[in-house]
Amino acid sequence: MPMDMELEALLRPPASQMPTYPPKWITLATGAKMVVRQLERGDVPTLLNAVRPTMKVARDYYDIVGARLYAELLGWYRYRVKDHYCLAGQVNGALVGIVNGRMYTPEIGMSYHTLAIDRGLRVGAHLFAAKMEYHLEYLGQEEVWITAESPIGFRRWMIEYGLELKEGMQHELGGASFYSLTKAIWHEAKPRLCVGSRPVPRELLAKAELEIRVADEGHILDKILGVKGGD
Ligand SMILES: CC(C)(COP(=O)(O)OP(=O)(O)OC[C@H]1O[C@@H](n2cnc3c(N)ncnc32)[C@H](O)[C@@H]1OP(=O)(O)O)[C@@H](O)C(=O)NCCC(=O)NCCS
Repeated sequence: MPMDMELEALLRPPASQMPTYPPKWITLATGAKMVVRQLERGDVPTLLNAVRPTMKVARDYYDIVGARLYAELLGWYRYRVKDHYCLAGQVNGALVGIVNGRMYTPEIGMSYHTLAIDRGLRVGAHLFAAKMEYHLEYLGQEEVWITAESPIGFRRWMIEYGLELKEGMQHELGGASFYSLTKAIWHEAKPRLCVGSRPVPRELLAKAELEIRVADEGHILDKILGVKGGD
């Protein structure tokens, strides 16, 4: 059925200008080089293939985070979420983790989700730091609102960063009281938690951009379940 573009124009939120996140690279504990870069709307169908298997894993709350991330990415693909972005980690082209969020107002960033596919290497922690870097240093925002859905997430964000509890308001994801990463917290945490080098060597970046490789479902499940879970 042809799309009714007049109606569609009413359903699509207007898009703000958002600066691009400059890619960086990080040497992981194994020595592998992870490229962190911003993805585009057209990459969503590939990303969904990586997220789909995670929805089957209750352990460490992969199912709820996977299901929500799936919906958010689809919302972006179908123009149903305003000012959304997605960053990803790739090793030799293979997708190892995803983070996303959106610009809630020019001053406030809304952190959505962090999903590590390769575990045991702080891939999720590095990608979360990259998204905080995007909000504070490239979107030029004052603070980022963050909520946790899993005990591992709570340890990684609320505790490792010492985030500030916000009371009496709600994060877009609902849930318990949420936390804020302020500029002051970012400046204290950045030297400890945000790593990576720029520019990315040309060949390394070209490999990442050439193809986002997604492991098959069995391999993704092995990667997620192959480690001792936190809780
Ligand atoms: C939260 C998340 C993004 C963190 O990613 P990460 O920084 O790469 O961390 P990992 O998942 O590899 O490891 C987390 C914990 O799992 C356990 N773990 C991971 N790899 C392990 C291994 N090889 N052997 C033993 N335990 C391991 C450890 O308890 C580890 O915590 P520690 O490193 O602080 O000791 C990731 O766990 C994830 O995607 N979880 C599901 C979705 C989720 O909860 N997202 C956040 C919502 S708030």
